[in-house]
Amino acid sequence: MKGCKRLYSARAIAARVKKLGKAISADYAGKDPLFVCVLKGACIFFSDLVRAVSLPVQLDFVQAASYGGGTVSSGEVRIVKDVECSVAGRHVLLVEDIVDTGRTLARLQELFKARGARSVQICALLDKPSRRAAGGVRAAYCGFTVEDRFVVGYGLDLDEKYRNLPYIGELPPQGEEAWQ
Ligand code: IMP
Ligand code: MG
Repeated sequence: MKGCKRLYSARAIAARVKKLGKAISADYAGKDPLFVCVLKGACIFFSDLVRAVSLPVQLDFVQAASYGGGTVSSGEVRIVKDVECSVAGRHVLLVEDIVDTGRTLARLQELFKARGARSVQICALLDKPSRRAAGGVRAAYCGFTVEDRFVVGYGLDLDEKYRNLPYIGELPPQGEEAWQ
């Protein structure tokens, strides 16, 4: 893709996802876990990750959004689509595309714990620790740590674009064409 700096190739992502799947399989053996995909950004990562896990797992989906318009979020997180399963007594693994401020995952973790989940852990494809807000969350499993830059592809979007790029890239400066 012209102008877009490739950070992680499809091949590098696949290798990392395989390793995450192995670690998760070892940790969750015998626990009958519930894997929850945080839509929409994690959808591609989730599909690959669950197939790298060698355990029977249950899948569900949740979608959250931050209140407020424009580019600056108010920090309040609203559930747009809730899970269908009961999480009470379950070992829940939240699968997210990127932990930025950490507010979305902090809210989801708090919500599922309040509903009686036995454990609520996080698996994030990417982590941007420099952006973490106070009281931030910690991902038990993380694909790659990135600096404070906006990335797209493999599920991550900019205004709903670029999700289907097979790799993760950094967008070119404004005005330059990213697709090629
Ligand atoms: P948080 O609640 O601030 O951690 O927000 C996390 C959400 O912000 C992610 O699920 C993404 O949808 C979005 N986000 C944060 N950083 C990026 C980025 O670099 N690229 C694409 N989306 C991002
Ligand atoms: Mg997004």
